[in-house]
Amino acid sequence: MKILVTGGAGFIGGNFAHLMVNTYPEDEIVVLDALTYAGNLETLEPVMDRPNFKFIKGDITDREFIDQCFEQEHFDVVVNFAAESHVDRSIEDPGIFLRTNILGVQTLMDACRKYGIRRYHQVSTDEVYGDLPLDRPDLLFHEDTPIHTSSPYSASKASADLLVLAYHRTFGLPVTISRCSNNYGPYHFPEKLIPLVISKALAEEPIPVYGEGANVRDWLYVNDHCTAIDLILRKGKDGEIYNIGGHNEVSNLDVVKTILKALDKPESLIHFVKDRPGHDLRYAMDPTKIETELGWKPEYRFETGIQKTIDWYLSNRDWWEHIVNGEYQNYYARMYRERV
Ligand code: NAD
Ligand code: TYD
Repeated sequence: MKILVTGGAGFIGGNFAHLMVNTYPEDEIVVLDALTYAGNLETLEPVMDRPNFKFIKGDITDREFIDQCFEQEHFDVVVNFAAESHVDRSIEDPGIFLRTNILGVQTLMDACRKYGIRRYHQVSTDEVYGDLPLDRPDLLFHEDTPIHTSSPYSASKASADLLVLAYHRTFGLPVTISRCSNNYGPYHFPEKLIPLVISKALAEEPIPVYGEGANVRDWLYVNDHCTAIDLILRKGKDGEIYNIGGHNEVSNLDVVKTILKALDKPESLIHFVKDRPGHDLRYAMDPTKIETELGWKPEYRFETGIQKTIDWYLSNRDWWEHIVNGEYQNYYARMYRERV
């Protein structure tokens, strides 16, 4: 099987590429990534020279390039991780979110129709459901919970989901969608809460907590998300949506305090700052469908996953320090100067 992983130089796509290359030596894994500020080839270094792996630099919104790529490569399966993914950036500049997250998906699916594939999988998010109240722990997101978005990011992801379902119904494109809760783990870009807190705490710099830190996220260790997607590719049904989450709801303040405690750093580093506009209060997933229909089970609870993540950041300082000092953006030029 030849699998195209778009956005595979990012956090989740990178972890997914590692999993697939290592688990299925008989499959060919092709990562296509535009290497935006969030793309980092150093994330793919462990698999770069493996015989079943290939990297292509390119933009999913570039129709001519995408068509050419599909014509040459003959993919069986496409898994789309490529996206602008940071809510705060979408508030600053929504345009690029609409372009990549919606038009990029259209371009990819048009190529899938034109050249033929066995499955197009769209990696989506729990944020398409909007938020839940803090005082109703009984409420969870189900696959049929209405879409109700808050940020330009979540609106762009929801739009893409609607388009994916439309291509299934109208054109018969074989598609699946997964909607996952917040991920954490290795190779997470340090603009997002957990890696930001780890890097700031280690540098003993102030840690910005939005509002009162009471907002709740349902945290899933990234490898558990990747195994769920793998299962959907192999056993999922065309046209279906699968929620992914592990019932690990933690408030932002508790996330920060847990990391500070593990690193033996003082809580005085916490700085409460102005809240994010439109800040979603709480996300919480019901993963019953993927558990019962596909037999998925997460391996990590938050307590074990966060310790594993902190250990990874401690023993892979180069990876995130290159991001903090900007060095990672020279990696492509360095790598490929030697290869051409
Ligand atoms: P990320 O920002 O770390 O990675 C995104 C990758 O996409 C980067 O490598 C970037 O270079 C690439 N990219 C961006 N625009 C591109 C374009 N036009 N063409 C080709 N490549 C492009 O994001 P992530 O956290 O790994 O998220 C991956 C996917 O998972 C996204 O679709 C996101 O919406 C979804 N998701 C993320 C989370 C989470 O907690 N991070 C949770 C649920 C779903
Ligand atoms: P983030 O990692 O940006 O993910 P998302 O907004 O997609 O859930 O943020 C997680 C939570 O942490 C969210 O409630 C916003 C909050 N947050 C802070 O309090 N401080 C920060 O510096 C960041 C980046 C996020």
